[in-house]
Amino acid sequence: FSLASRRLVNAATNKSRFFSSTAAMGKKVAVLGAAGGIGQPLSLLLKLSPNVSELSCYDIVGTPGVAADLSHIPTASSVTGNLPAAGSWPPSHNTGIEAALTGASVVVIPAGVPRKPGMTRDDLFNTNAGIVKGLVEACADFCPDAVLAIISNPVNSTVPIAAEVLKKKGVYSPKKLCGVTTLDVCRANTFVAASMGKDPKDVNVTVIGGHAGITILPLFSQVPGFSPSDEDREALTVRTQFGGDEVVKAKAGAGSATLSMAYAGYLFTEEVLRAMNGADDVVQCAFVESSLTDAPFFSSPCKFGPDGVTEVMGFGEISAYEQKWMDQMLPDLKKQIQKGIDFANQ
Ligand code: NAI
Repeated sequence: FSLASRRLVNAATNKSRFFSSTAAMGKKVAVLGAAGGIGQPLSLLLKLSPNVSELSCYDIVGTPGVAADLSHIPTASSVTGNLPAAGSWPPSHNTGIEAALTGASVVVIPAGVPRKPGMTRDDLFNTNAGIVKGLVEACADFCPDAVLAIISNPVNSTVPIAAEVLKKKGVYSPKKLCGVTTLDVCRANTFVAASMGKDPKDVNVTVIGGHAGITILPLFSQVPGFSPSDEDREALTVRTQFGGDEVVKAKAGAGSATLSMAYAGYLFTEEVLRAMNGADDVVQCAFVESSLTDAPFFSSPCKFGPDGVTEVMGFGEISAYEQKWMDQMLPDLKKQIQKGIDFANQ
């Protein structure tokens, strides 16, 4: 992550480096839900990325304005704003989901409704399942080779929905479908660094499982030099699992994490793009099809290459404390995965 963050600073401050490298490396990235709380700051960060040559903003409302606004930022990428039917930015651009997706190498999907206080991510299922299903059908039709990065909750169910949709369309590749769990890693890094008195850029916690409550499992036993008391370890684990609730509560009805999620989504996408451009050191946690446990999808460190995930890596040794959480998590995670599969096949 520190590398990706440094690249962002370089992109924003070092013009000559930026323009010289972009033509060869740039990819088209589409953001679906680009006018939303996550979509706007995520699009802003991606507009600064030297790995993006074309940024395609798609939403059911608002994207012409978002794109026009972003287009005044002097970076080398072009930007378009697409709506389902009439209206686009620039006005000469063909609008619609086909134009938004054609040629995309990566599609990031934060479309859908966010939580309000008292809601679990599963409470979003009824609305977001259909939204993700429809958008992934379009991805299968118009950019079947793109890597899909799903942010819309409940990720534990929306990723299996996407897999079923892609299978039905005959274009499913497990290497190219990821649920974004990077925010859980960001939170764990932030909380542990504070507890150790370290700079967060020097901490990289592996977070495995899923992306909801107790299905989120940070492996603090693997953090070098970190030996918290039992009480502190429990508090940090639970805070990482329920960090999203802190934000939902503080926003008091106005939504869930948007700024930290935009940052996390940007980091994830930037690393996928770096691997596409030939970097061979890209390893990050992602919620992918997996045989590491008996849950058919599971988040663990994954190695990325030119075509997406090249290896679902193991998560190493875990402590007895972490095993206890794992045993508790798996039935829930499997249920949420099955709920997505059933929805897609109903
Ligand atoms: P928001 O309501 O601010 O934005 C969502 C956007 O999606 C809106 O602009 C809306 O018009 C758009 N949208 C709805 N249906 C659409 C469709 N069919 N096609 C295209 N766009 C559509 O919500 P926010 O805060 O940006 O959150 C979005 C999602 O991200 C939620 O499901 C939330 O739970 C999830 N999330 C995921 C996190 C993660 O770690 N994976 C963290 C935080 C939020």
